[in-house]
Amino acid sequence: MKLNETLENLRVSYQASSLDINDCNLNPIEQFNKWFQEAIKSQCDEPNALVLSTITDNKPRSRVVLLKGIIEGNFVFYTNYQSAKGLEIHKNPNACMNFLWLPLQRQVRIEGVLSKVSDEQSSDYFQKRPRGSQLGAIASPQSKKVNSRDDLEQLFIDTENTFSGVDQIPRPLHWGGYFLEAHYIEFWQGRSNRMHDRICFEKKNNQWERFRLAP
Ligand SMILES: Cc1cc2nc3c(=O)[nH]c(=O)nc-3n(C[C@H](O)[C@H](O)[C@H](O)COP(=O)(O)O)c2cc1C
Repeated sequence: MKLNETLENLRVSYQASSLDINDCNLNPIEQFNKWFQEAIKSQCDEPNALVLSTITDNKPRSRVVLLKGIIEGNFVFYTNYQSAKGLEIHKNPNACMNFLWLPLQRQVRIEGVLSKVSDEQSSDYFQKRPRGSQLGAIASPQSKKVNSRDDLEQLFIDTENTFSGVDQIPRPLHWGGYFLEAHYIEFWQGRSNRMHDRICFEKKNNQWERFRLAP
C-alpha cells in the first residue's frame, strides 16, 4: 500500500470516555491533576512528556520536554538556558504546552507565560538527578552545532574527568527550570463521529472562566 493510502486509511474511533463541563473541577489545575493521575494509572508512556512551543521572530517552534512539577499552580520543566528554546524564551516568554495521552484519547493544551524558577529550586532539583544526567547537562552545549558523535562523547568524558572525586556536582548556571503561568487551559476528550469534548478555562481578573468549544 502506498504511504498516502495508508495514511488515509488510518482511522481511530474515539470512544474511551467523555467530559461534561459539570464534571470538570472548577479549578483547571485540579482537573489537570486528576487527568494526570489517570494517565499514570493507564500506563501511558512518559505521561509527563509535553510538546512545548515557543516563538522567535514571529515563527513558532516545538519540541518535547518533561513536566517535573506543578508549583503553586505553575507547570515546571528544566532545560539549558543557553539552548535555542532558552534564547527564544528570553526574547518572548509566551509559550504553549501540549500533553497527549493517547490511551485515554485525551489532549491538554496550556497557554501562558514562562519565567525562570528560583536558583534554589533549580539547584535542589539538579541534585535529585542521576549523576549521568548531571554530567550530560554540563557537557552538552544544547542546540549548538557539534562536529561528530565522537566530539560529543569526548565532551562527556572531559566533564566526567573534571568531576571525578567530586561527590556533589554543582548545578551549572546555564541549566535550570522554567515555570509556565497559565492563562488558558483546554481539556480535550475524543468522542465518536469527531464530536469531541473540549472544556476550556480562561483566566480573567484572576478568576477561571469555564466554557465549552465546538470540536
Ligand atoms: C521524551 C523527551 C523528553 C525530553 N525532555 C527534555 C527536557 O525535559 N528538557 C530538555 O531540555 N530537553 C528535553 N528533550 C529534548 C528536546 O525535545 C529538545 O531536543 C532539546 O531540548 C533542544 O531543544 P531546542 O534546540 O529547541 O532548545 C526531550 C525529548 C524527548 C523526546
